[in-house]
Amino acid sequence: MSVIELRNLHKRFGRLVVLNGVTLNIEAGQALVIIGASGTGKSVLLKHIVGLLKPDKGEVWFNQKRIDNLPERRLQSVRTHFGFLFQMGALFDSINVIDNIAFPLVEHTRKSKEEILNLANEKLKMVGLPDVGKKMPMELSGGQRKRVALARAIALSPQVILYDEPTTGLDPIRSDVINELIIKLQKELQVTSIVVTHDMNSAFKIADRIVMLHDGHIVFDGTVDEMKKSEDERVQGFISGEAGEAELAGLRAESPSSIRLTNL
Ligand SMILES: Nc1ncnc2c1ncn2[C@@H]1O[C@H](COP(=O)(O)OP(=O)(O)OP(=O)(O)O)[C@@H](O)[C@H]1O
Ligand SMILES: [Mg+2]
Repeated sequence: MSVIELRNLHKRFGRLVVLNGVTLNIEAGQALVIIGASGTGKSVLLKHIVGLLKPDKGEVWFNQKRIDNLPERRLQSVRTHFGFLFQMGALFDSINVIDNIAFPLVEHTRKSKEEILNLANEKLKMVGLPDVGKKMPMELSGGQRKRVALARAIALSPQVILYDEPTTGLDPIRSDVINELIIKLQKELQVTSIVVTHDMNSAFKIADRIVMLHDGHIVFDGTVDEMKKSEDERVQGFISGEAGEAELAGLRAESPSSIRLTNL
């Protein structure tokens, strides 16, 4: 059963067409990875799923209900079913870790202070950082901050967790901790995970299914094995990390002879 359905989504910003007919059904319990070059609209796609952006054309469905046309107040209650780990992983710097995690519980539930504290501590344990509750975000490493942001994202026990480049900026070991955490939460909480990443190791490790976004369309949709075997140049180029003709064209235009060394 589909938990999320994107039907023929179109989105442009001025003259820049970002999504040009994206259709995608996401099954409950699936770990879906979205890949694609920088600027192809991966974050824009995630924001449509949670109603932070509205499509110019097309529809977004969640649990068999259309949500893209809901008023903001109704959307806010829909959003409580989603955990969102943003690309810029924003924690509130002026409050400690536990208060950060407790924040959505205070905002969206009527639970007692004690219950909220217990739940926040439980989430912190889940991400493997049981002892940092009293610390301020500034005192944590980048990897720890990501994990605290993840604890906050799961505070309301969401049905779907969206991760926007969760391993960017982390060393390979810390990245793998995040990968393992995504897999662990997927199993323990039986959530649907949607992970945007550039990191192919991470994609191959996590994904039940991978889709690739390119030029406003989904150009690949399949399993890890199918992706590895794909003969599509765009897919292979992305896996190997080698720039193709299209990517190099811009560099060639700026040949050394065209750069003027005026300040020498
Ligand atoms: N609110 C906005 N207003 C105007 N343009 C936007 C807005 N949000 C995104 N864009 C543009 O849409 C395009 C896609 O942006 P998006 O952030 O989705 O890329 P991305 O695939 O997530 O890239 P990256 O991998 O670098 O995070 C970019 O060219 C970006 O500048
Ligand atoms: Mg992005």
